[in-house]
Amino acid sequence: DWTPDSFVETTVAELKEKLGDDKVVLGLSGGVDSSVAAVLLHQAIGKNLYCIFVDNGLLRKDEFESVLESYKHMGLNVKGVDAKQRFYDALAGLSDPEKKRKAIGRVFIEVFDDEAHLVEDVKWLGQGTIYPDVIESVSVKGPSATIKSHHNVGGLPDFMKLKVVEPLNTLFKDEVRRVGKTLGIDPNILGRHPFPGPGLAIRILGEITPEKVDILQQADAIFINNLRAAGVYDKVWQAGTIYLPVQSVGVMGDERTYENVVCLRAVESLDGMTADWCHLPYDLLAKISNDIINNVKGINRVVYDISSKPPATIEWE
Ligand code: XMP
Repeated sequence: DWTPDSFVETTVAELKEKLGDDKVVLGLSGGVDSSVAAVLLHQAIGKNLYCIFVDNGLLRKDEFESVLESYKHMGLNVKGVDAKQRFYDALAGLSDPEKKRKAIGRVFIEVFDDEAHLVEDVKWLGQGTIYPDVIESVSVKGPSATIKSHHNVGGLPDFMKLKVVEPLNTLFKDEVRRVGKTLGIDPNILGRHPFPGPGLAIRILGEITPEKVDILQQADAIFINNLRAAGVYDKVWQAGTIYLPVQSVGVMGDERTYENVVCLRAVESLDGMTADWCHLPYDLLAKISNDIINNVKGINRVVYDISSKPPATIEWE
């Protein structure tokens, strides 16, 4: 019978055998999968695992610093790379969702490749690919392959010539979480909502600017902190805030305002393939709305997304 403990034991032994004294590079994203993959590899090969965590400027508020800190606490050999400006430059002027995804994927590969080249004589690329990612990337006809190009699998430039090691590619998400728990990984990392690779770039409809990212990060942090404070964060499968390219009229004191709208999205789901919007308590929605409008300059209206998937998707882009 499969248990997280037996999985860890067998996998670490297999990784030791397979990798020997070879060096491995792995990109950490702050998410569950790459974190669990990193800790497994670290148990097998220790300092020969070189982790790279890229700040693409599209993460949640303060996420880069706090997650980098947890990785260091976990004993991982991790390098944080500030590449914010490279991503913002590549995104300038783009508003088509697929063009934004492609630009982000391309810059990520460039940045990662620059970093990987600094690891002398590296042989392997470690990845946190899980079983559903494997299925999704081979089923070319799958809806997400055509509707949205996901960047978690593949995308390895030829010139890197690295062999790929994917210790989680037989597991489902709940199994990955159980393995992570056995490995003693911070519950804050394990319980984290899914977050898309292109990050806030696909939650800012239209063109990305650092100013919009800043506004969205503030509003989103208020949303997420309120979900945590109300004890509902763990009941929600995924939540996020979307910056709409819509301005509307409001009043603030005696002043007329003409500012942007943010939309709150919170869904229940098993695997992200289908989803229903969460029936969050009205009082909680009211508090979040007030907190955002009173504290985030540039936002004067908050709406709640009550669409299910299908036909809507979880993300707006
Ligand atoms: P949708 O919007 O397709 O999202 O209903 C389903 C799940 O996939 C995530 N998602 C992405 N993840 N790169 C990613 O790594 C992407 O381009 C991407 N697009 C959507 C989304 O956050 C949700 O969990």
